[in-house]
Amino acid sequence: MKALNSIHFKRTILILVTFISVYTLIGQGGMWLPNLLEGMNEKEMQEMGMELEVADIYNPEKSSLKDGIVRFGRGCTGAIISKEGLLITNHHCGYGNIQRLSTVENNILKNGFWAANKAEEIPAPGLTVTIVDRIEDVTAYILAGIGDDLDPRERQSLVDQRISALKKATPKTEYQEIEINPFYQGNEYHLFVVTVYSDIRLVGSPPESIGKFGADTDNWVWPRHTGDFSIFRIYAGPDNLPANYSPGNKPLKPRYYFPVSLEGVRERDFTMVFGFPGRTKEYLPSIAIDQTIKVVNPARIELRTDALSIMNKYMREDEKIRLQYASKNAGIANAWKKWIGENQGLNTVGAVEKKRILEDEFMKRVNANPEWSEKYGSVLTDFEKLYKELEPLAFAEAYSYETTIQNIELMRLIGFFNELVKAYTEKGVEGFVSYREKLVPYLNSFYPDYNPDIDKEIFATLFEKYMKHMEKKYIPYAFEPYTSGEVLADVIYDNTIFTQPKEVEKLLRMEDVQGIIDIIESDLAFYTSVQWREMYDLITPEYNRVLEQINYLQMKYMKALMEVFPDHRFFPDANSTLRLTYGYVKGYKPKDAVYYLPVSYLSGVIEKYIPEDYEFDLPNELISLHAKKDFGKYADQTGDVPVCFIGTNHTTGGNSGSPVLNKYGHLIGLNFDRVWEGTMSDYYYDPSICRNIMLDIRYVLFIIDKYAHATHLINEIDIRKAKE
Ligand code: ARG
Ligand code: GLU
Repeated sequence: MKALNSIHFKRTILILVTFISVYTLIGQGGMWLPNLLEGMNEKEMQEMGMELEVADIYNPEKSSLKDGIVRFGRGCTGAIISKEGLLITNHHCGYGNIQRLSTVENNILKNGFWAANKAEEIPAPGLTVTIVDRIEDVTAYILAGIGDDLDPRERQSLVDQRISALKKATPKTEYQEIEINPFYQGNEYHLFVVTVYSDIRLVGSPPESIGKFGADTDNWVWPRHTGDFSIFRIYAGPDNLPANYSPGNKPLKPRYYFPVSLEGVRERDFTMVFGFPGRTKEYLPSIAIDQTIKVVNPARIELRTDALSIMNKYMREDEKIRLQYASKNAGIANAWKKWIGENQGLNTVGAVEKKRILEDEFMKRVNANPEWSEKYGSVLTDFEKLYKELEPLAFAEAYSYETTIQNIELMRLIGFFNELVKAYTEKGVEGFVSYREKLVPYLNSFYPDYNPDIDKEIFATLFEKYMKHMEKKYIPYAFEPYTSGEVLADVIYDNTIFTQPKEVEKLLRMEDVQGIIDIIESDLAFYTSVQWREMYDLITPEYNRVLEQINYLQMKYMKALMEVFPDHRFFPDANSTLRLTYGYVKGYKPKDAVYYLPVSYLSGVIEKYIPEDYEFDLPNELISLHAKKDFGKYADQTGDVPVCFIGTNHTTGGNSGSPVLNKYGHLIGLNFDRVWEGTMSDYYYDPSICRNIMLDIRYVLFIIDKYAHATHLINEIDIRKAKE
């Protein structure tokens, strides 16, 4: 008996050791499809503390948690929290809508907004929310008879044909849409039937000083103290079906809404995050990661560092400019800061080396199996070749994109005028008129926030960088005489019509269309932009040609990994479809001798307070609530109000606004960010430093109740004290 036990024990250890090593090599984490949780995921979640069954999470037959999750707009997630379609998401997700609803007289972005009743809720035109009705694995149909040896393009066109045929053949109501997406790099396909609602109204938003507290300085950073939430409501037509805005529409009666729990979190508590993560690249070969670290990220970071430092200089000096550039600056800075963290994190955890060890193990197993070595023996060497070929193109693509399209506003703007000229060339006056109709509203939103002085300085700096670092063949002939960006910038910016909104407006209103085209085409800035843009258009087809081969190989490699490491659970890379991720509330060690606790508090908000500062100012009412300790039922055992917490849930961009659920499936928070040291989780999830940042729902309720006195909303939400 004893002997048997010990053999058993040894085997378990052995299995455990190989499992753990491969497991950590591939990286932990995971964003799982809700229709595929049965089995290992369910078991693991329950072992970690979950008190639900997966049928409570996803169930096409009856109401389940997934019915309370929405894709909010294009790039975010939200959760339904009342039987009358009340919806919660991040402040930064509602930001654009809140900004558009703000005026100088009624600046709700700055002051916050709380509708006193449903009649006061403000329609947000253009905003939609999408709910997933059901998910179906359609791999067998899409890939039937498609062998590994098919030419990549032929394969893709077959797949595309079947996707569109299946979309047509799938039964749906007039309110539903069908999405079919590739998973595991095209080794699996799933179909999503979704319903889109378009009458969405703003219900409440904290002032920016709470909802965006800490702004860019604190972005991607723990400890965090941002009250990043806003509240909307979904409206539906008669019969509770989606309808365009109409004053007579009624609040949606949802299939499911989340109860909200005041129980809060402690370290090691189980949590899950349910939402729409955008994109990850978890299964790249080591050489791809190496290229990201050494070539692509540095190029993008370098150019954005220059652009941002010029912008910041002007923004610090002038309040008007600060407002004009706040949102643009935040957008550029968000990715810039993420890439910096990503590179550091990838280096710190030795992601390239870890991938290499995995690849060695992969090759060992492949070589030991004749069938595998026939099929997969050359995958890694093929990657080597292709990534070598890609390298100069990837650099050129990044450099060219960041200059001509991303960071020099005039060059980007003129891209649209180039389209206008093309519309005229191709479709005559009619084409011109119809493009102009789209262009004018864009110009009306562009020019009020445009400052040519800033742009000119950015042009001069980035132009010189471009001339210095790009291969000769990507330098327009006309640029060659210019070694000084400043000289060229002077010539261009002082002579172009495109920095002068009034002149542009006049120009576009002229009767003589050919005359307009002539003026546009003779503008030096136009000429420069077109020449420059042609270089980008020269790079991208080459770049995409190599990338296409890489993607095809990546599909093969993904398949190989799953075959060669059959004990490992592989999750499909994020692709903006509905996913569930789970983990623990957990602190981390960012560097030697430092440990970060997992929960931040209101007293920490007050610690960061800097009066009049554009990032760290606070409303007086909040300061006095803190001083009076007027916390209602929202403080925890420490006597302070929890604000944010972190955990090991594997999330990415798109998961903003995703509900954070406890072991009972009750809402305890909203996901909104990741920690800086762990932003490399898009390429390599390392459980030691990858953490997602969540807003504690008690802070949300505290703000709604104690700060905004919107007690009608508190009454509308189904708040549970302890486990019920
Ligand atoms: N880092 C978060 C995300 O990726 C928040 C971004 C919005 N906040 C900002 N300061 N830019 O979207
Ligand atoms: N802030 C991100 C979003 O808007 C989430 C942070 C992340 O990338 O994980 O989706």
